[in-house]
Amino acid sequence: MQKPQIEIARDSLDLAERMVRLFLSAADDAIASRGVFHIALSGGRTPERFLERLAGVPRVGRFPWDRVHLFWVDERYVPPDSQASNYRLVARTLLCRIDMPEANVHRIPTEFEDMTDAALAYGRTMREVFRLEANGIPQFDLVVLGMGSDGHTASLFPNSPVVRDADHLASVVPAGDTVKPARITLTRPVLRAARRVAMLVSGAEKSHTLKRVFLGEPDEMRYPVQVLWPVLERVVWLVDREAAGEIM
Ligand code: 6PG
Repeated sequence: MQKPQIEIARDSLDLAERMVRLFLSAADDAIASRGVFHIALSGGRTPERFLERLAGVPRVGRFPWDRVHLFWVDERYVPPDSQASNYRLVARTLLCRIDMPEANVHRIPTEFEDMTDAALAYGRTMREVFRLEANGIPQFDLVVLGMGSDGHTASLFPNSPVVRDADHLASVVPAGDTVKPARITLTRPVLRAARRVAMLVSGAEKSHTLKRVFLGEPDEMRYPVQVLWPVLERVVWLVDREAAGEIM
């Protein structure tokens, strides 16, 4: 296994600030070299802090947001104004404070009666925005992920067949014992195709899993975060001291 690139942050605030720097440098690079920055964001506690910090950075007010296309890694199948919505999290922390054209904001739709149609529609949006051929895979400049204490990432949960879905860009994750409500998630090929992945891991409750993930035999059905193992050189792990307790 390639050696993971791990940055240890003092605490969750330091982690959020490191993520802000990573975001700005990835966005600057992408815009300078390709004129556009494609990013996909996750929900959860850790990204929330990052988004709040990002919204407070002075140069963010002058940032060329019209060159940014914003997508989501995953979404709970709830209306966009629900407390549980990952879209709402970004809308209330960042989008309400910046001038990003609505046409550049690509939330995961949750209005379809059949969730499969929503996942397919989201896949079509990616194909259009990235101008993909029929079987193309979008290459995000930056995908921001988190890891749950069970080793899930995005909405790829342990022992779910969706972990191995390589036929779709976005997939339905049905509700079950650990997943409530049902969700839609980007799939493994999309996560692996990203130019850069930031994996945010914060909190003592993740320390044991993090150790197992790094030191145990790889088993992506047990620890879905390991779907990134083939592309580990493109993943930056931003881990706070509490979460890093068992790997330091
Ligand atoms: C979500 C996610 C999920 C999350 C992890 C870590 O919307 O919940 O995309 O994969 O990133 O569960 O969440 P925390 O940052 O809250 O620990």
